[in-house]
Amino acid sequence: MTLLSKKDYEQSIAATRDARMNWWREARFGMFVHYGLYSVRGRMEWAMALENYNIADYEKYADRFAPKPGAPREWAKLAKAAGMKYMVLTTRHHEGFSLWDSKVNPYNSVNYGPRRDIVREFVDACREYDLKIGFYSSLMDWHHPDGWKCAFDAAARKRFNDYLTALNVELLSNYGKIDILWYDVSAPMESWEGWDSLERNQILRALQPDIIINNRSKLDEDFGTPEGHLTPVPGRDWEACMTYNDLSWGYVDSKQAAPYGYNANRILKMLWNVSKARGNLLLNIGPAPDGSVPKEAIEPLTKVGQWLEQNGEAVYGKLDDSARASFWVRGSTRKKNVVYLWNWIWPDDGEFTVGGYRTKLQKAELLDGTPLTFEQDEWRLTIHGVPEKSPDPVCNVGIVKLTFESEPEFLMGTRFPQLHGGTKVLW
Ligand code: GLC
Repeated sequence: MTLLSKKDYEQSIAATRDARMNWWREARFGMFVHYGLYSVRGRMEWAMALENYNIADYEKYADRFAPKPGAPREWAKLAKAAGMKYMVLTTRHHEGFSLWDSKVNPYNSVNYGPRRDIVREFVDACREYDLKIGFYSSLMDWHHPDGWKCAFDAAARKRFNDYLTALNVELLSNYGKIDILWYDVSAPMESWEGWDSLERNQILRALQPDIIINNRSKLDEDFGTPEGHLTPVPGRDWEACMTYNDLSWGYVDSKQAAPYGYNANRILKMLWNVSKARGNLLLNIGPAPDGSVPKEAIEPLTKVGQWLEQNGEAVYGKLDDSARASFWVRGSTRKKNVVYLWNWIWPDDGEFTVGGYRTKLQKAELLDGTPLTFEQDEWRLTIHGVPEKSPDPVCNVGIVKLTFESEPEFLMGTRFPQLHGGTKVLW
């Protein structure tokens, strides 16, 4: 194939980005799954390195790797119940073990352990539950003899880059339409040139023209990947990836890990944080050695899914940047002239006030269509007649929908410029 220069390549993928990314931008919420031999060890996904295994000793986990039948289907079922729209599976993590029937990497789940193609089971489960499919693919490899030698030996670098290309060609050739390629950890090389990413990504895009690629092969590609925090990436698409417990991506074999898992409200706060700035949330589960979903994830994720069934209008679809709001309202999301106020503490006196919206409000209502009365002056909006109890019985996060005459002008602090600096924003 004729390879494009970096400039021409980036122009060509920019030209198709909106068409390729539209579903992703509206999906908002995905499940990350970290599953591999490290799950058997049960000391998170870096155990091979942090516990300083030699390869022969660590390989013993391969024969102990025993995902129960239907494990990937259990993950997909929970992702669907949680209101997630896509999944990303660690097809091969830093430990170098491939979860598919690889002819390139004999160290895989068909030659060892379950003697099954877990990636095949994963894609089948995603399709059964109508979830888009993402493959996580580590550049770093602690098992391959050239995985580190590539940093200082040109022949090893060539061999290892060819190996990485062959692995990803298998993944993107043998499992039907794949929607996301999620690279990770560009070490030991720290540049796209070192990884031959410009060539590899063009080869892979030729196999899957609609695919979306993240920024971790050291080319910007389609989206940024803040990790462990929810900070928007200015001027581009972004997805925050979060562990389920602020601790570990891979399974930790301890009954004391459970309390660190998130509850439904914490997950909703993360979902609001990414939604208000038009990002995505990729929330991780680290299945147990047999592939079971960690018990502490089931109830909160199911509750979030129930909340999204009633309130998804404020999360899914094309969102616009939204403004901060007052104490009562821990923030909002927005679609053009419609603002969704997310109320984490529901008032018990039937009203709450939101400062700063200057554009004429046409309608205030609950998402079930219940009309609300309101007053508006140049400083603030006061919504009256809210029901005593939050309309949300699931997580007590009630949404109020405001429809303005046009995209709302939001002007805080005009009375106390020293307080807010009189910032004028058109949100
Ligand atoms: C970090 C960790 C890796 C994990 C990844 C998820 O790169 O090193 O283990 O898979 O984050 O984004």
